[in-house]
Amino acid sequence: MHSWRCIVCGYIYYGEKLPAECPECGADSTQFEMLPDDDIRV
Ligand SMILES: [Fe+2]
Repeated sequence: MHSWRCIVCGYIYYGEKLPAECPECGADSTQFEMLPDDDIRV
């Protein structure tokens, strides 16, 4: 389990791999950055 943040809108996605697109703003997967596990609750 990892967490990914959309750098466009700040949406946090939790999962094993990148989402195809952001459910909030529709940005594609290139707009996500993986967060360190320690940041899951930020
Ligand atoms: Fe987004």
